[in-house]
Amino acid sequence: MPDLDGYMLGSSEAEWRRLREQHRLWRPHLLDTLSRLHLRPGDHVLDAGCGVGTMLPDLARVVGESGRVVGVELDAPSAVAARSAATEHPNVMVLEGDLREVPLGGPYDLIISRWVFSFLGEPEATLAHLTEALRPGGLLLVIDYIHDPCRAYPEHPAIQRVILAYRQLYADRGGDLFIAGRLPQHFVEAGLELAEVDPCSLAGPPGSPAWRWIERFLFQHLDTLTESGLLSAQERADFVAAWASLVATPGAVIFTPTVVSVVGRRPTPGPERPHPPEMG
Ligand SMILES: C[S@@+](CC[C@H](N)C(=O)[O-])C[C@H]1O[C@@H](n2cnc3c(N)ncnc32)[C@H](O)[C@@H]1O
Repeated sequence: MPDLDGYMLGSSEAEWRRLREQHRLWRPHLLDTLSRLHLRPGDHVLDAGCGVGTMLPDLARVVGESGRVVGVELDAPSAVAARSAATEHPNVMVLEGDLREVPLGGPYDLIISRWVFSFLGEPEATLAHLTEALRPGGLLLVIDYIHDPCRAYPEHPAIQRVILAYRQLYADRGGDLFIAGRLPQHFVEAGLELAEVDPCSLAGPPGSPAWRWIERFLFQHLDTLTESGLLSAQERADFVAAWASLVATPGAVIFTPTVVSVVGRRPTPGPERPHPPEMG
C-alpha cells in the first residue's frame, strides 16, 4: 500500500530548499511546456501536490488577475509554506488535503501535477478524480520520472548502489520512479486523449546545476535509506568516498533521470481551445 502517513521525503527546511532549487533548474522547461499548452490569462489551474508552492507564482502570473490558481497539498506545513510563496497573488488559494480524495473544485482548464505521481502508487483512481475536475477540452499535465538514465560517469558500483536503493525506497512505500512510462496508457484508460509525451534529461560536470540537483538528492536522504534498511553503514561510507573521488575526476559527468511531461485532454464534443502539437 502507498504510504499515506505523509510525504516520504519529509517536510524539513532542507527538503524545502531542495524543492525550490529543483524548481529553479526545471523552470525554463516548465514555462516552455505551459506556453506550448496555451495556458493564458483567465484560465483556471489546479496544482495537485503543490508542495511548498514552487510553481504557484509562475502559474498565477500566466493566468493573470482574471484567472485562478488552486494548490492542493497533503503536508500541512508545506501547505502553509505554499500560501506564503503566493502572498503577492490574490488569485491563488491553497487547500490542505489528499488530492486523491478532497473535492477539487473546478472545472479547470489545466491540472498540473509535478513529481507527485511517483509517490502515489497505482494511478487509476487518482486520474479519474483529476479528470472529473477538468472542463471538457481541459488538459492534464503530469510531470514525473522515468528514472533512467540517472547515472554518474566514470561508473562506480557504490554510487549505482545508492541510486538503486532510492528506487527501492519509492517502491517499498508504494511509489514508482518509472511511473511516467506507464502514464500514457493510464491516461487513455481514464478517457483522456493523449496529446503529448515529452521526455527531457539533463547532464553536467561537477558543480553544474544538473550535478548539484542529483548530488543534493542523493546525500540529503541517506538517513532515510539507512533507517529503512536499504543501505548499510559500510555501503554509505563507500558511497561518500566514491563520490569524493568522482568529484575530483576530470571529465566526470552525471546524467539526470528523465523528466517526462505527459499531457492528456478531456474530450469535448464542442469547439476546443488550440491543441498542443500532436505526437508524431
Ligand atoms: C517532490 S514534491 C513536489 C512538489 C511540487 N509539485 C513541485 O513541483 O515543486 C511532492 C509533493 O507532493 C505532495 N503529495 C504527495 N502525495 C500527495 C497527496 N496524496 N495529496 C496531496 N499532495 C501530495 C507531498 O506532500 C509533496 O509536497
